[in-house]
Amino acid sequence: MDTWRQVFAINENKFPDDFLFGTATASYQVEGAWNTNGKGENIWDRYTHQYPDKILDKSNGDVACDSYNKLEEDVRLLKNMNVDFYRFSVSWSRILPKGFAYQVNADGIRYYNNLIDLLISNGITPMVTMFHWDTPQNLEYFGGFTNSLIVNWFEEYARILFDNFGDRVKFWITFNEPKQTCAEGYGIGTKAPGYKLFGIADYMCIHNVLKSHARVYHLYNNTYKETQQGKIGITNDAVWSEPKTQSVEDVEAAERGLLFTFGLYTDPIYHYNGDYPQVVKEFVSARSKLEGFSYSRLPKFTPEEITYIKGTYDFFGLNHYTTTLVNNVDPFPIGDPSQIKDARIRTSFSPSWPKTASSWFKVVPWGFTKVLKWIKNRYGDIDIYVTENGYSDHECLNDQERINYYKQYLSALLDAIYDHKVNVKGYAAWSFLDNFEWNDGYVNRFGLYHVNFSDPQRTRTPKASLYYFKNIIKNRKLIK
Ligand code: NOJ
Repeated sequence: MDTWRQVFAINENKFPDDFLFGTATASYQVEGAWNTNGKGENIWDRYTHQYPDKILDKSNGDVACDSYNKLEEDVRLLKNMNVDFYRFSVSWSRILPKGFAYQVNADGIRYYNNLIDLLISNGITPMVTMFHWDTPQNLEYFGGFTNSLIVNWFEEYARILFDNFGDRVKFWITFNEPKQTCAEGYGIGTKAPGYKLFGIADYMCIHNVLKSHARVYHLYNNTYKETQQGKIGITNDAVWSEPKTQSVEDVEAAERGLLFTFGLYTDPIYHYNGDYPQVVKEFVSARSKLEGFSYSRLPKFTPEEITYIKGTYDFFGLNHYTTTLVNNVDPFPIGDPSQIKDARIRTSFSPSWPKTASSWFKVVPWGFTKVLKWIKNRYGDIDIYVTENGYSDHECLNDQERINYYKQYLSALLDAIYDHKVNVKGYAAWSFLDNFEWNDGYVNRFGLYHVNFSDPQRTRTPKASLYYFKNIIKNRKLIK
């Protein structure tokens, strides 16, 4: 028995009456049917087919959970969970096989129409993410998110989504975790499309994601909101930064770490300055100069762009999994540019924090309360929807550690609501199903339902955590 489980006091308050429970997935991770009925290739199809070695078990999302063909069953399982909402993403290249709006795939429209209708007729609210990392391959030939024209491409795609689904979808999320798309996809190159230009291409990507988000927010607000009456926002992921020591340098480094890994994406939207955090601008600019650049590697917004991006939200979408310890580093020697060198931080985990199956995260429930408080302190009293939170293990049905994770993290969320008056309005467990966990393939599992990936039927089986989560929804409080 782990001792951390016993010492943690559970918050016994009730979830507020209007608090919504849900669960989440993403198109590439669950749908499969990668080249069926007119779907175009996307960057994850290309990346997994071209570089199978980048995936732990050399797998891909060709079939995944086969959710494309198992829509009725999936909605039945969701209904059985009693969730208020289901967060899923639309595959851009299933709707627009070439990425551009001149060619719309009728089957893609049909598929998501069926899913949305079935959810609604079962009393489940659809929460739709427009982009969860799967850029149409055709757009990547032209630089994907490093090309500023993507603002137009994304707007045209969004218009098609609003026109076709907006009568029934009242919850839109433009982007999921731009940090992974930008820093991993174009910076360190560990995720599709796998470019490596850290400290340069990642910043270009962030700039274009923020502008694309704002464009679509305004499109909705100006053209659709009055008739469709929905909400629109963006989801970012925060890893809580805890100072490694109480020295002034480390305390500052921890705050700076959060501003580099989170504030960079959120300040332009939610902060009253409406720009990248000051410390980020200063550090990148200073280092760029030392490296011989005559400009900062972090692009600048014009005053018009600042006004255009600021305030483009109806709620705050947050994904949260873990915490790191952060310490200050003296300037790194001059060499290739990188965001880490710009930030001058080093991150680590405390050896006392319980592990998960994923190398990038440990179980640190109190970090969740701190992140929620930080958001409120920095950005004000915004409605927050936790659009993802969950635990990874290996294949297992009696997943007691996942139950513990949910118990501790939901308790930390209740602490934020009750002790610090943070307005958390909803929570989605990641994930509904075991699915394609990106570079970790099918080895690391997050599902409340187990999926048998060696069985062509992709049979789903409830895990112990499914029953636990269902009971929380039923009782609206945590069960010991
Ligand atoms: C966040 C991502 O949005 C999701 O796609 C991923 O599977 C989970 N984190 C777990 O790594």
